[in-house]
Amino acid sequence: MSSTPPPADRPRPPRTAAVIPAAGRGVRLGPGAPKALRMLGGTPMLIHAIRAMAASRAVSLVVVVAPPDGAPEVKHLLDEHALPERTDYLVVPGGETRQESVRLGLEALPEDVAVVLVHDAARPLVPVDTVDAVAAAVRDGAPAVVPALPLADTVKEVEPAAPGEPEPVLATPVRARLRAVQTPQGFDREALERAHAEVAVDGEGATDDAGMVERLGRPVVVVPGHEEAFKVTRPLDLVLAEAVLARRRANDGF
Ligand code: C5P
Repeated sequence: MSSTPPPADRPRPPRTAAVIPAAGRGVRLGPGAPKALRMLGGTPMLIHAIRAMAASRAVSLVVVVAPPDGAPEVKHLLDEHALPERTDYLVVPGGETRQESVRLGLEALPEDVAVVLVHDAARPLVPVDTVDAVAAAVRDGAPAVVPALPLADTVKEVEPAAPGEPEPVLATPVRARLRAVQTPQGFDREALERAHAEVAVDGEGATDDAGMVERLGRPVVVVPGHEEAFKVTRPLDLVLAEAVLARRRANDGF
C-alpha cells in the first residue's frame, strides 16, 4: 500500500490574492456615486476591476475593500454580476485613506496566501497579460513588482504655490529615467505586511504600496505596464474608458 496521503489531505500550494481598494469617494470625477460604483459600458467600474483580477488564473481570491459604510451594497453588487466561479470573493469595509483601506484588506487574507496583488478599482481595464506578468515576477522572487510606462510629458519639480499662481521650477528630471506607475502592484505577502505595519499613515497616507516597501529598503522592480491600465480620475478618463470598451466589443465581434 502506498503511504501517499489522499489529495484532500495534502498541504495546498500557496495562493495569490488580489486586494482591490475601492473605498475612495472620487471627488475629482465630479459629483455622483463613489467612483468605484460609477458605470462603464453599463457595468460598475468595480465589477470591471474585479473581473480583470479574476481573469488571471494565478488569482484565486479577490478581496474588495468597500467604502466604510458600503460593504452590504458592494456584496449585493457582486451577487448581481457574473464572476468566474473558480475564484473566491470577500468584501471588507475600508478606511479614511487608501493606505488604511489596503491594510484592512490585508488583514482579511487567509493564511495560505503568499502573493498579494494590490489593484485600484479605478483601473478597470487592465489587461490580463499585465496581471499575469506582475504575479509571475513575484513568484520568480521579486518582493515588490510595479507595472509602469515611460512618460509622454516632460516633468518639472516645482515649489507649489496657491492655485493659479506661477510656481518656481526646482528641477527637471531626465524623462528617459522616469516611469508612470500603475496597478496591480505585486508583493511577497510578508514584505507588504511589514511595510503596512512599519510605515505610519502620514497626512493622506501613501498613494503607492511599492513606495512603502521601498522605504523599508527592500528592492522594487518595474515591469512593462499597459496603456489600457490607466486610472479613471477625471471626467475625460471616463470618455477614454468607454472608447476602449467599445473598441474591445467591436474586436470581440459583439
Ligand atoms: O484617489 P485615488 O484615485 O488615488 O484612489 C486610488 C484607489 O484607492 C481607488 O480605487 C480608491 O477607491 C481607493 N481608495 C480607498 N480608500 C480610500 C481612498 C481611496 O480604497 N480611503
